[in-house]
Amino acid sequence: MPNATFHSVATSVAGWSRRMFLTASATSLAVPLFARTSRAEAMDPQTARAKDPRDPANLALTVNGRKHQLALDARTTLLDALRERLGLTGAKKGCDHGQCGACTVLIDGRRVLSCLTLALVAEGRAVTTIEGLAKPDGTLHPMQQAFIDQDAFQCGYCTPGQILSAVSCVEEGHAANDAEIREYMSGNLCRCAAYPNIVAAIKQTKHSMREG
Ligand code: FES
Ligand code: FES
Repeated sequence: MPNATFHSVATSVAGWSRRMFLTASATSLAVPLFARTSRAEAMDPQTARAKDPRDPANLALTVNGRKHQLALDARTTLLDALRERLGLTGAKKGCDHGQCGACTVLIDGRRVLSCLTLALVAEGRAVTTIEGLAKPDGTLHPMQQAFIDQDAFQCGYCTPGQILSAVSCVEEGHAANDAEIREYMSGNLCRCAAYPNIVAAIKQTKHSMREG
């Protein structure tokens, strides 16, 4: 290869190499810069405070057809939100450990233990407590009426949970006979031992609920 041609090719190759080197250097420098920016933002005190789990979480709870805006510690149970924040004390805190059923409420028609359910889980879903079971004109739900007819409570402490659980038991199709009712109501304890009367109330109601 003549010298002039060799020089021209060498310059050209050297030129590309410089441009490529500068481009590559700029690119590789940019990534750590962005990374540093993200880390700086993450360490910003304002951002860090917003992510503190102890900060209140804003949520909308729909309970008995009414919408409520609440700012709660994200760890608040549905039971505490209902009782302490909304003043709905029908659901009882018996054991607070998922063992007695006194805190039973319905979420989208299904029974849940509200002492073991975070309030955040209920956001955007329909919560029903004993206070919302009767019709707006005060007419009792057939299950409430049956508990009165069958004398299915004594002190009444477990009764709100029993009634909501009983409504679910029938709607799930688990009320075919006494044994099945006892089995599917076994999560609701009654220290007054009103069990035979509770079974009688569920049997009284199951036909009217299906017809209704
Ligand atoms: S209070 Fe929830 S199961 Fe006892
Ligand atoms: S009626 Fe008293 S605990 Fe059930």
